[in-house]
Amino acid sequence: MKKLNVKAALGATSAEESVKVSGWVRTRRDAKGFSFLEINDGTCLANLQAIVDEKCPEFGQIHEFTTGSAVCVQGALVESQGAGQAWEIQASKLELIGKAEDSYPLQKKRHSLEYLREIAHLRPRANLFGAVFRVRSRLAYAVHQFFQEREFIYVHTPLITASDCEGAGEMFRVSTLDPKDPPRTEEGEIDYSKDFFERPTYLTVSGQLEAEIFALSHSKVYTFGPTFRAENSNTSRHASEFWMIEPEVAFCDLEGDMDLAEEFIKYLISDILEHCAGDLEMFGKFVDKGLHERLRFVTERPFERLSYTEAVELLENSGEKFDFPIRYGANLQSEHERYLTEKHFKRPVTVYNYPKEIKPFYMRQNNDDKTVAAMDVLVPGIGEIIGGSQREERLDRLDAAMEHHELSKEDYWWYRDLRRYGSAPHAGFGLGFERMLMFVTGVGNIRDVIPFARTPGNAEF
Ligand code: 4AD
Ligand code: MG
Repeated sequence: MKKLNVKAALGATSAEESVKVSGWVRTRRDAKGFSFLEINDGTCLANLQAIVDEKCPEFGQIHEFTTGSAVCVQGALVESQGAGQAWEIQASKLELIGKAEDSYPLQKKRHSLEYLREIAHLRPRANLFGAVFRVRSRLAYAVHQFFQEREFIYVHTPLITASDCEGAGEMFRVSTLDPKDPPRTEEGEIDYSKDFFERPTYLTVSGQLEAEIFALSHSKVYTFGPTFRAENSNTSRHASEFWMIEPEVAFCDLEGDMDLAEEFIKYLISDILEHCAGDLEMFGKFVDKGLHERLRFVTERPFERLSYTEAVELLENSGEKFDFPIRYGANLQSEHERYLTEKHFKRPVTVYNYPKEIKPFYMRQNNDDKTVAAMDVLVPGIGEIIGGSQREERLDRLDAAMEHHELSKEDYWWYRDLRRYGSAPHAGFGLGFERMLMFVTGVGNIRDVIPFARTPGNAEF
């Protein structure tokens, strides 16, 4: 007897006399003298159909095999007579491993995404989420493959940290002090020397600063891990816990950084087009009609590149009525990003050289004294998917920037040391993994591409 998963059974090259397949019942259809059981085990989108009739001793109990039940089917793998699947099982033995009660929430009708979010423990069994999480897994694999093929070293940066990389004050505090009655100093301040790490600590917002350490020892490195942001923005593209990929490259400038970002995005899309064709077809049918064509298009053409100053001019002269009028010196709003990527250029756009006031302390100052060597990659439907920069490698400039941002030199002594001992130009970026997944699947809400979404007010599972 051959034990097969559903994907292997459906991809068989010849009939098999005796196979065994386990999974969950998606639907059961009863006819006179026989029943069809559709079985899915998450290995692929399609179900394997089992035909159960009087030759199967359990046929008398077929009504027990309810939607959602865990089952094991044994029988012959035969060519399917019906349209659709190539193979089906003629059941000779059925085992009910775990019956699903009649209240099983995933009945055949289509459920709203909002409803499915409330049952995050069961939604991976719904077609859409089965596909999303298979693509998520493949995308993670492709990320590693891209960097490993290019001899980048994978670095694990800490999740608990004392420094606020982005300086945006969006850190979750990590503390073992009693929040209601923390120890206090004589001045009445919270006494963090009594805390677990004997100082204030937080969940990391980015592994970049630590990645820089390793770029200046291993030349080309990347991180890939969870990051946390306590920003209270309830949008479809912000999560409080999300995964980020952060390459960091020594002896690299902004141009090299933008080239790497573009090559990386194209690589990931090509990989998913190649390896997740079945799932993408489903997204194209049910989520986003133009998905496949748009993804192909992105892989085939260069991204548009323009400076922040050019972008602002273009937006000012667009004749478009924006809710937030565009103004030099302000961040681009999502409506501006949408205009650039969806209406004007109709493709991904890399915007570079931002005003230094709106960017963090670590970005390299340009000779104009006004801008820093930053870059953001914007894509249609999502907006910002990558944020990166060339880093300030000159100690005097870094010190000036830190002073400007009111950061203490003592706190960043190790970061400054990197500029004292063998400093070198270096650059990197962060790709939001969930945003990339939204881009390749067409799924419109970040809550639906992460297994257990963490957003303000939401940590049920
Ligand atoms: O632009 P950000 O804040 O850049 C950094 O954190 C840098 N330290 C990266 C670097 O240069 N190594 O974040 C990078 C990307 C964004 O472009 C976006 O895709 C994603 O991370 N991101 C989020 N994704 C989901 N939810 C959030 N709240 C996100 N905040 C940022
Ligand atoms: Mg950013």
